Amino acid sequence: MKNFSFKVDEIREQFPALSKTVNGLPAAFLDGPGGTQVPRRVVEKINDYLYYRNANSHGVFKTSVESDNLYWQAREVYADFLNCSPEEVAFGANTSSNNFKLALGLVRTMKPGDEVLITDIDHEGNRSPWRTLEDFGIVVKSVKINTDTITLDFEDFKSKLSDKTKVFAVNWAANSCGTITDVKKFIDEAHKVGAITVVDAVHYAPHRPIDVKAIDTDVLLCSAYKFFGPHFGIMYVKKSVGDQIRTVRVMADDNTEAPFKFETGTPAMELAAGSAEAVEFIADIGRTHEEFFLDRLTGLEGRRRFVVAGMMAIDEYEEGLALQLRKELSAMPGVKVFGPEEGHPRTSTVSFNIEGIHSNEIARFLAERGLFVWDGDYYAIETITNVLGLEPSGGLVRIGLAPYNIQSEIDRVIQAVRDFIESKK
Ligand SMILES: Cc1ncc(COP(=O)(O)O)c(C=O)c1O
Repeated sequence: MKNFSFKVDEIREQFPALSKTVNGLPAAFLDGPGGTQVPRRVVEKINDYLYYRNANSHGVFKTSVESDNLYWQAREVYADFLNCSPEEVAFGANTSSNNFKLALGLVRTMKPGDEVLITDIDHEGNRSPWRTLEDFGIVVKSVKINTDTITLDFEDFKSKLSDKTKVFAVNWAANSCGTITDVKKFIDEAHKVGAITVVDAVHYAPHRPIDVKAIDTDVLLCSAYKFFGPHFGIMYVKKSVGDQIRTVRVMADDNTEAPFKFETGTPAMELAAGSAEAVEFIADIGRTHEEFFLDRLTGLEGRRRFVVAGMMAIDEYEEGLALQLRKELSAMPGVKVFGPEEGHPRTSTVSFNIEGIHSNEIARFLAERGLFVWDGDYYAIETITNVLGLEPSGGLVRIGLAPYNIQSEIDRVIQAVRDFIESKK
């Protein structure tokens, strides 16, 4: 790769939120895994819809026709984001809601005693919808994690998979500490027993390009508010699988086919417009950084090419900052950084705790310095609370990077954690 340089100033100037200050210090938004900040152009698209196009769908008049067109165009944009066709893209309130709808649809063709396999590395948004199926007599099993590395135990997965398994649900990246799982390896095994695979890409999507065909999953979910968009959920359903699913839907004639059969009620068209613009924002990052990734973009064309280049640029940039964070934090007395060994694929999310200290105290100390980080379990309850048993010490402190973060913010975090440790002596 040519000497990589990321045009971070150009990116930062598009985010009004970055002008915020706390106690005279610039706010550093290090809470990306909870939701990123939103660039001006995304908000403008939402406003434009509500000001000039607002209408319900399927009418014959101008604004309704425009709304329908815009909603479909958003599917086309996400088809490029995910590498699928627009008919395979369904929208909803958020990933958890999409997953509940999916689970309640799939259970209609299951019978008591059938099994669903979830994992201990997942957020509750990809566990609770499936756990709910226990009320219908479905047996829900969960794949263990290796507690030292916060990685999934493949042998445990294989031992729990059987021809009774109807669904296997797993995240691609863990919001607890950034572990990226080789989901393709798991999907291939799950398909051997005929299970439908559901990949939660909520934490993966803001950091790396997604190609649903390459991993061959049946379903994949992500949420636009994690990558510069509004609060909105996107669900890919492979055509051949979607056609077979009896969904929970309003009983009307115009929603019997995918993707409409996966959507309930009046769509949030303004949020579809904003979410599509978030992808265009990523594609523009790709346009200005494409030169660094030419060898990895062979065969890709149009918007898809720029989306992939944009995600590669984001990943490359964030990884440099995250590596420094992991190294420097791990070297501090009493600090433990959680997650896989160096070299294992991971996102730029760095989670840690300090021996004998409640994590909330650290997060508050950083917040006073304008460093916005998360603490607790962030709904990765199974991993952080039940398996690692970290609830009494407040779970973990999570620093999650986005492409608008800068070196000086990383330096401020490192200094603040050092000062915190010093203050406890
Ligand atoms: C890995 C992961 N999965 C699922 C969810 C739930 O997504 P949503 O808030 O869109 O329901 C989150 C939210 O933080 C997440 O990080």
